[in-house]
Formats: sequence, C-alpha cells, structure tokens
Amino acid sequence: MKIGVYPGTFDPITNGHLDVIKRALKIFDKLIVAVAISSYKKSPIFTIDERIAFIKETTVELKNLIVEPFDGLLVKFVKQRGAVAIVRGLRAVSDYEFELQLAHANRRLYRDIETVFLMPSEEFSFLSSSIVKEIAYFGGSVKSLVPPTVEKALKQKFQKQ
Ligand code: COA
Repeated sequence: MKIGVYPGTFDPITNGHLDVIKRALKIFDKLIVAVAISSYKKSPIFTIDERIAFIKETTVELKNLIVEPFDGLLVKFVKQRGAVAIVRGLRAVSDYEFELQLAHANRRLYRDIETVFLMPSEEFSFLSSSIVKEIAYFGGSVKSLVPPTVEKALKQKFQKQ
C-alpha cells in the first residue's frame, strides 16, 4: 500500500488545497492530510481542532483519506506512518525555491523519502490561505475560494472583530 502525506498549516483549507488532495488520491492508495499543530513561522488564526474539522467536513465523501494533526519534524511523522512520499502543491514559479529547500531538507533528514509536486488547477494558482483571510477580513466574498464551512467560519470570526 502506497501512503502519501500532504502536510501544511491549512489555516484554513482552501479550494486549492482540496484540488491537490483530489489529485493525490488518484496516485496514492491512502493519503494522510497532516495538519501542523504549531509552526515555526506562522501563528494560525484557527485552532488545530477547527482546522482539522474544516478539512474533515469538506472531504467527508472522499475515500482513502485520513486527516491527522502532527507536531515536530514532518519526516518523523512520515516515517511513523510508513508513507513513501510527501505531497506538496506547486502553484507558480515563486513556490519553487521554498519547496526545493523543504524537499532537500526533508531528504537530508530522511533519505528514503520522496517529495511529489502536484499542480493545482490554474483557477487556484493565485490562491493562498493568507489571501483568503485578507479578503474575508475586509468583508469581501470568499465563496468561490473556500468550502462553505470555512466561508461561514471566516465570516463569524471577522464579524466579531
Ligand atoms: N492552494 C491554495 N493555497 C496553497 C496551495 C494550494 N494548492 N498550496 C500551498 N498553498 C498556500 C498555503 O495556503 C499557504 O498559504 P499562507 O502562507 O498564506 O498560509 C502557503 O501556500 C504554504 O503553506 P502550506 O502548504 O500550508 O504549507 P506551510 O508552509 O504552511 O507548511 C509545513 C509547511 C508545515 C509542511 C512545514 O513547515 C513543516 O514540515 N513543518 C514541520 C517541521 C519540519 O519538519 N520542517 C521541515 C524541516 S526543514
């Protein structure tokens, strides 16, 4: 059984992430969406439980998919789960340099791990969680960019502020 791990902060999940998940499921027998509990660089606005719940609600109809939190080094989690590859989305050339660094660092830490890059549909090539949060913060519509459960949560979060 070939297991892939799709890691990220997913703060929150967007339709672009969902697109990558669906593509990865065509390649792997099982896909684990690994949600980073804490991050060296980011302070998520949604809790780990919220971020996981959004993904689970959105992917309820998808088979062979597991959503799990992880903390610490990604390669440790990947090893523990017996996965053969890390999946990452490549939206534009600008993603490449960071992704290359990450892939090489992960390979240095665990030489048997491969990184597989998938290109989301071009309609999502400009999308990021930060862009979505910024649009929602200023009252714009994110309806076509995120699943309905996330749209609702963003509205509630920013209405309060
Ligand atoms: N559609 C929409 N947005 C996408 C996307 C897609 N297909 N692919 C990436 N993105 C966006 C994300 O929303 C995110 O946007 P943001 O910066 O506005 O939040 C950004 O691109 C990249 O984030 P993401 O894919 O969620 O990854 P990340 O950079 O938040 O997470 C980890 C990186 C968690 C995988 C990485 O830091 C990690 O492995 N951490 C654990 C510690 C470790 O092992 N580090 C590596 C050793 S050097």
